Amino acid sequence: MGAYEIKSLEQYFKVYKKSVREPRKFWSKIAEDFVWYKKWDKVLEHRLEDAEVKWFVNGKLNITKNCIDRHLAKRGDKTAIIFEPNDPKEEAQHISYNELYVRVCKMANVLRDQGVKKGDRVCIYLPMIPELAVAVLACARIGAIHSVVFAGFSSTALSTRVRDCGSKVLITSDGGFRGNKTIDLKSIVDEALEDCPEMESVLVVKRTGAGIDMKKGRDIWLQPLLEEASGESIAEVMDAEDPLFILYTSGSTGRPKGMLHTTAGYMIYTAYTFKNVFQYEEKDVFWCTADIGWVTGHSYILYGPLANGATTVMFEGVPSYPDFGRFWEVVDKHKVTQFYTAPTAIRALAKESTDWVTRYDLSSLKVLGSVGEPINEEAWHWYNDHVGNKKCPVVDTWWQTETGGLMISPVAFATPTKPTYATLPLPGVQPVLMDEKRNEIENNQVVGSLCIKFPWPGMARTIWGDHRRYKETYFSAFPGKYFSGDGALRDEVGYYRITGRVDDVVIVSGHNLGTAPIEDAINEHPAVAESAIVGFPHEVKGNALCGYIMLKETGETRNRENLTREINQHISEHIGPIAKLDKIQFVNGLPKTRSGKIMRRILRKIASGDTSNLGDTSTLLNPEVVSEIIDSAV
Ligand code: PRX
Repeated sequence: MGAYEIKSLEQYFKVYKKSVREPRKFWSKIAEDFVWYKKWDKVLEHRLEDAEVKWFVNGKLNITKNCIDRHLAKRGDKTAIIFEPNDPKEEAQHISYNELYVRVCKMANVLRDQGVKKGDRVCIYLPMIPELAVAVLACARIGAIHSVVFAGFSSTALSTRVRDCGSKVLITSDGGFRGNKTIDLKSIVDEALEDCPEMESVLVVKRTGAGIDMKKGRDIWLQPLLEEASGESIAEVMDAEDPLFILYTSGSTGRPKGMLHTTAGYMIYTAYTFKNVFQYEEKDVFWCTADIGWVTGHSYILYGPLANGATTVMFEGVPSYPDFGRFWEVVDKHKVTQFYTAPTAIRALAKESTDWVTRYDLSSLKVLGSVGEPINEEAWHWYNDHVGNKKCPVVDTWWQTETGGLMISPVAFATPTKPTYATLPLPGVQPVLMDEKRNEIENNQVVGSLCIKFPWPGMARTIWGDHRRYKETYFSAFPGKYFSGDGALRDEVGYYRITGRVDDVVIVSGHNLGTAPIEDAINEHPAVAESAIVGFPHEVKGNALCGYIMLKETGETRNRENLTREINQHISEHIGPIAKLDKIQFVNGLPKTRSGKIMRRILRKIASGDTSNLGDTSTLLNPEVVSEIIDSAV
């Protein structure tokens, strides 16, 4: 693979220009480097105003042929996946491309035996163990649509997703290890499936050895089936636009959105961005610390690296277990060359002594990456100085579940970095900033809503089962353009800095949380009348959540501490522990506009302790509650 490689800033500008002037030629040249059953007839068809996009029309391929089979001749014995377990005393596993091929084929055959066919949805609720990677790839091999649900999500969140995508098969495990905790995944699954009568089979991986209930006729241990299965499996012929996976992301309102990604465009986009942004070379060892339950793991633990024949690290644990040196110990042990993590992890580790870093040999590192939320200046410098020893470019990569792959990011060693800036758009990405009147802002040194005005191959194609919502959410605020939901600043040289969400999504520890579903969960508590959730800045998490809660009986004298605990418990059960509130304030009323909308803007200011300028409150129906809330602020 090598079309349009970028090795210098000059080359970046040249390649970028080409990608904008002749996007079809540009992407088809890159696509030539992949294995196809049949080449495409047309590179691109699109009507962005209708949210309709197709890449590599009528091309036929299978992504696992590209991520596994084609490497076997040259790299069969090369390690594809290094599995680093939670417990450092447990031995790491090195899974070669040959072995990955056999494991994926076996799993594919097991799924076929369970009656899974092309186009069927398979939910995967697994910890970060090799079977997760294998299950994802096995789905892709047989043309089933995988929907990985992060194993930290609650039973309610899992059942909502299972039902939304209509999955009849689920792959899970008896449990998982995370730090010093053992998570009882199977009982969460059992609870979730009480609401999913359509579920036919649950394949269970043995990981912790915990005693679990196996429901007769539904639950089956996976390993014995894998042992029996054949290690050869024909890869399904997929259309370029056939769905590859659904991955749920929070919306600012209502139910989670099942973002649907398709086959060819996603593959080509993740592969190209991986290779160039991280300047991947054949002998490198790439480590992305994300969970495969998030898009970062899909694109940069699995598909992007494997499409390049890379060695990719899969880490089961957490950065603080058994101590704060764990990340650096793993870098040292496996001689990691590119390390890709989230600002929240960097901030948490930067609070600890640098001795945790210096005791390990990090000289293998060449490139550092950041993703998931804006990286603050202090964290950027700590990362650059202590981890990268000022020698490794820090690529601050801006992108989203919806974009499939990196969008705005430095190209390592080519784009000069600037702390807190994602810098320049990658080839094929045409960002624009829009003002409040929906006009494109042409000049530099401006802020606006970040949109993309031309399709790129990695973009999601729809929301599963709800194309209208897809169009409304992403293509209607600025007709004909994709609206990211983020605000951004463009500096004097055209570098972008993401300033954060401009909608009701809050990024907590790098996790995208919609406030509406949390409010829905809280409002289900019998004592609660209404609630409003807002984010406020937090030293480690980036943002934390504050809940303003109005009780049904405002004079409610029940112990507020108990109520706080119950409400957080409720949130944990409905969404997951990551959505717990850091602050709760019980209020007598919520500031509302005359049309009845809660003015979250004001609550955001109060929660962040900035009450100096609350802006225009004249449109409020009940301005008196504002001072009441300020006076009793926690
Ligand atoms: O607000 C942006 C923030 O994360 C959002 C996307 O979240 P999600 O779909 O969960 O995907 C996360 C991993 C790609 C964006 O809308 N975000 C992501 N990367 C950055 C970022 N904000 C600032 N800088 C980044 N590098």
